[in-house]
Amino acid sequence: MVKIVYPLTESVLEKADLKAAIKVINSKKITMGQKTKDIENYFKNKIVNMNSLMVNSGSSANLLIFQCLINPMVKKLKPGDEVLVPAICWSTSLWPIIQSGLKVKFVDIDLNTLNISLSDLNKKISKKTKALMLVHALGNCTDMEKLSKICKKNKIILIEDTCEALGSTFKKKLLGTYGDFSSFSFYYSHHITSGEGGMVCSKNLKYIEIIKSLRSHGWSKDLTKSKKIADKYRNIDKNWIFINSGFNLRPTDINAAIGIEQLKRIKKILSIRKYNFLKIKYELLKNKKYNQQFTILEDQKFSNIAWFGIPFILNSNDKKYKLSVMEKLSRKGVMTRPIISGNFAKQPSIKLYKIKTGSNLQNADLIDKKAFFLGLHNIKISSKILKYLTESIYSSL
Ligand SMILES: Cc1ncc(COP(=O)(O)O)c(C=O)c1O
Repeated sequence: MVKIVYPLTESVLEKADLKAAIKVINSKKITMGQKTKDIENYFKNKIVNMNSLMVNSGSSANLLIFQCLINPMVKKLKPGDEVLVPAICWSTSLWPIIQSGLKVKFVDIDLNTLNISLSDLNKKISKKTKALMLVHALGNCTDMEKLSKICKKNKIILIEDTCEALGSTFKKKLLGTYGDFSSFSFYYSHHITSGEGGMVCSKNLKYIEIIKSLRSHGWSKDLTKSKKIADKYRNIDKNWIFINSGFNLRPTDINAAIGIEQLKRIKKILSIRKYNFLKIKYELLKNKKYNQQFTILEDQKFSNIAWFGIPFILNSNDKKYKLSVMEKLSRKGVMTRPIISGNFAKQPSIKLYKIKTGSNLQNADLIDKKAFFLGLHNIKISSKILKYLTESIYSSL
């Protein structure tokens, strides 16, 4: 068995996180409760300045956003409406669109950002386009001002999948605060973790109240207007009024307690990640013999990126070569991943559901062939590991 020297993610739980989790366990009230409310308030007041609702994953956040948009109480989207999504996306950026009876159209990406191409976006917008599921791939972003203008002009609902981008800004404005909705993930390998967990955000409190009900079976008892609803349906037990369809996508208070502790340290976490990103990048670029064979992305003008990983773009367009480099690294205990899931239009699940992939995804194809990413950790990289990582990469090229 190969010893993993440089994993995609490092253990990031500190004593304070464990203490908070144990306190919840000892209280014996471990399901969703006060701690979940606390983290929602913290996220709203200290991070995004938007109404926030915790769920059990970033995937659940995305699902609930689309379920809200098609909900009979909202009706912003109807079956068959077209939703655009960049071809470099995550599985559950995309599937909630289809699971909600909507149509997906893929948009190509920009090679400089690995994020949506605004020129292809303009080409792909049609009369049927009603929403854009924007994925801030690897924490990076496109020009958010230009993108917001395109959405406004074409009356497109903007949903930001910010699961890989907690802390990134464009023109000093946090990603996840540009759109009508945004989602965040607190999975183990993300900027902060609550084990499993995520957040749905929206400026519109009405939508958040609907999502709150969808999150918990469709019942009304947690809603701000629960008393008013109970008064309306006096013949139904007030704690068991189901005003909507529902799921159970709740977090536990254990997740919430860990998440709060991590959020309290977010500045420190982000600065360590930035340090690691720059340190690894400059170390790799030092050697003239090798540094002509690959590119590592830069923060674009106006953006301050909280990188999710270190995107590594090989000069060669030969996918076999990329896979061989990744394989060699893996044998040295250096873990790598495709850029999210490569060109998602090429995944077997797309064929299974007979989804039309459309044309012009050349850049997504190219990135699929020549790019991968290395993990970025929340603890400072040691000089020993940095040396090992650099040597492993050079000897794998
Ligand atoms: C872009 C993106 N969206 C959504 C998700 C889903 O988040 P979760 O793993 O919390 O369900 C991920 C997970 O890695 C992701 O990278």
